[in-house]
Amino acid sequence: MKIDGKPYRSIWAEADGRTVGIIDQTRLPHSFVTRQLKSLDDAATAIADMWVRGAPLIGATAAYGMAIAMRQDASDESLMKAYAVLHATRPTAINLKWALDETVRLLQPLPSEQRADAAWALAATLCDADVAVNHAIGSHGLELIKAIAARKEPGEAVNILTHCNAGWLATVDWGTATSPIYQAHDLGIEVHVWVDETRPRNQGASLTSWELGRHGVDHTLIVDNAGGHLMQHGKVDMCIVGTDRTTASGDVCNKIGTYLKALAARDNGVPFYVALPSSTVDWTINDGVREIPIEERDGREVSWMAGKDANGVETKVLICPETTPVANFAFDVTPSRLVTGLITERGVCSASQAGLAKLFPEMAKGQNKVRAV
Ligand code: MRU
Repeated sequence: MKIDGKPYRSIWAEADGRTVGIIDQTRLPHSFVTRQLKSLDDAATAIADMWVRGAPLIGATAAYGMAIAMRQDASDESLMKAYAVLHATRPTAINLKWALDETVRLLQPLPSEQRADAAWALAATLCDADVAVNHAIGSHGLELIKAIAARKEPGEAVNILTHCNAGWLATVDWGTATSPIYQAHDLGIEVHVWVDETRPRNQGASLTSWELGRHGVDHTLIVDNAGGHLMQHGKVDMCIVGTDRTTASGDVCNKIGTYLKALAARDNGVPFYVALPSSTVDWTINDGVREIPIEERDGREVSWMAGKDANGVETKVLICPETTPVANFAFDVTPSRLVTGLITERGVCSASQAGLAKLFPEMAKGQNKVRAV
């Protein structure tokens, strides 16, 4: 996507072949700052402290983290250490493990002197594949938006509600949930996005609003609790969200609050779609509520809010008594029965074992390869 006319991806290899560039998402929307990752620790910190975030981008950063580590030391010991350090950064998004497994599978049989170049090439391939996959997700999701647009009066927008940031900032490019939206917008279809602010870290307010605005997509920021009200009043035509891990049976784990939106959508007959690359499916599990580890983050993310004050200074404020106990569950699970469909790179399917297995028969049988779209 473009920022002030300049095309960007959310992650890129620098020309020196040992450094990786990223956009520091903790500084958005008020400052656009890029950072350079030069060591395994840099890559691990970038993921854990959410300079980068979003399941696909976490996977891409992990792949580059392995490549950076291999430039420093390509021994078996270093390979296993890099895997362990990166794997420990965040527990929920399965793309992290997927990218690490792909890297180890490729590097382990190679002599150490070939590992660094191979790891860099693989990370670049995974990033390019992510862009192609997200574009394909967008093409399939676009058909759903077109079908709703066809039922509208001329000039009437398709209203789409999204949660968190499943935009291009959460992937290498295009986004998952936003890819159909960008493609519809680029075709001249009128779309309007309801953006959940997404407490506590406000990825909707700070990231989704920012990237939709930069691309010129009409949108309105709402508090997390507004979605149900809007659906009751016919102001939402469809929901599209992303996911950090989806089970082989179609249970969807995504940013905390997604489940409540799905319940409201079901109660109001609003279609609830989840856009995802197949790398976000955990083919080894079926019961999302019981089997997906839910990240619990520092309570200060809830009790302190970041923003810009009236003087334009970026600051943090405490919003509760200093001694208030705080819990910070980062994700929840939406059972498959509440999901209208999964929008994948191979098409739209039901959120079920049969639906996923039909589109991805080789994965459902337990294989795990880097695939062409
Ligand atoms: O905690 P985050 O910001 O990494 O959570 C991100 C989300 O929940 C996204 O919706 C999900 O990763 C899908 S991104 C295409």
